[in-house]
Amino acid sequence: MSKIQLSHIDKFYGENHVLRDVNLTIEDGDFMTLLGPSGCGKTTTTMTIDDKMVIDADKAFFEAPSKRGLNLVFQSYALWPHMTVFENVAFGLKIKKMKKEEIEETVMRALKTMRIEEYRGRYPNELSGGQQQRVAIARAIASSPKLLLLDEPLSNLDARLRIDMRAELKRLHKETGTTIIYVTHDQVEALTMSTKIALFKEGEISQIDTPLGLYTNPIDLQAADFIGNPRINFIEAKGAFDGDALRVKSAFGEYVFPHETLKLDEEIPQGREFDCVLGLRPEMVDIYTGDPHHKNTVAAQVYANQPAGSETLVTLTVGDTEFLAIQTGLVEYDMNQNVFVVLHPGRMNVYNKETGRLIKYAKTKHKAGIDD
Ligand SMILES: Nc1ncnc2c1ncn2[C@@H]1O[C@H](COP(=O)(O)OP(=O)(O)OP(=O)(O)O)[C@@H](O)[C@H]1O
Ligand SMILES: [Mg+2]
Repeated sequence: MSKIQLSHIDKFYGENHVLRDVNLTIEDGDFMTLLGPSGCGKTTTTMTIDDKMVIDADKAFFEAPSKRGLNLVFQSYALWPHMTVFENVAFGLKIKKMKKEEIEETVMRALKTMRIEEYRGRYPNELSGGQQQRVAIARAIASSPKLLLLDEPLSNLDARLRIDMRAELKRLHKETGTTIIYVTHDQVEALTMSTKIALFKEGEISQIDTPLGLYTNPIDLQAADFIGNPRINFIEAKGAFDGDALRVKSAFGEYVFPHETLKLDEEIPQGREFDCVLGLRPEMVDIYTGDPHHKNTVAAQVYANQPAGSETLVTLTVGDTEFLAIQTGLVEYDMNQNVFVVLHPGRMNVYNKETGRLIKYAKTKHKAGIDD
């Protein structure tokens, strides 16, 4: 399959401008996730991939396996009500004139992958919403499509099953090399499975990046706020240029960020102080009860402590500035306990508060040194 290219797509519903200059390239073999809140234009974008084909969902299914090697699971996954689970999944293969034994084997493999082999004889109205959803995915993957379009395919599943299905879809992508276009508003799904994520904001794509790139350096405050759970801490700060470097003062003290960490394609006021925002992920905060004698140590106080088994959420204050930290495992702190936090300025983002744009890149923890 060659790549799919959407160039300068604009779409209106009446007065409503729902897609604004959407540009997106999907390369062969990508697992491209369209991510964004409800109503931002994800489904509309997928419809522009082939307008002719998606006018009629049922027709698309009929045409897809044989004619185009494209397969689709729609947000509303219409199964054929008069066919059993097995027949629903087998249908496209019969059209392809696959041999009976081969159909049996292929269908059962797809049902097994989706953990629904025991329902093979049931009709769709005898299945739960989540089971129907899995039949729709099984039907789509059974025909080994070159392109798989999955629009919120896991939305009806419980948390446990969702984790299993994420693992299966990820394996499927690796094993088959199928190009997958995946639509979700769930950032965990996007981060865990994709090779690339297109982040949508009100009809526009604000960032296209790898999961790690998007998580580490969200392009603006809105993207930073959307990606990550619990959410990133935003710390009010003042910035000013000092030669090529950026000096940032906040409740944590003063950091000087060298030129090579800055993103200077932005209208930044030169020669005077400007408002900026530090982006600090909760897992980047290390808490110590004794002074760790690290250069980036700040005295802090525990405001609240939420042990939750595998991790502990700790709300901290430094002066009037409040922020959240995550520690691995169960950690107990007293309310108002005085502690030390080690922060890693190299792993923080800096945003221009006025424009909301990223102006200083964070290093990934992986790439950062112990002092960063
Ligand atoms: N047929 C339609 N007529 C008028 N407006 C529409 C139509 N379909 C979608 N819209 C509007 O277009 C915008 C984008 O819708 P779209 O379905 O692409 O969102 P989405 O990102 O897929 O959301 P969700 O996560 O809820 O599925 C929304 O504001 C929606 O109300
Ligand atoms: Mg949608």
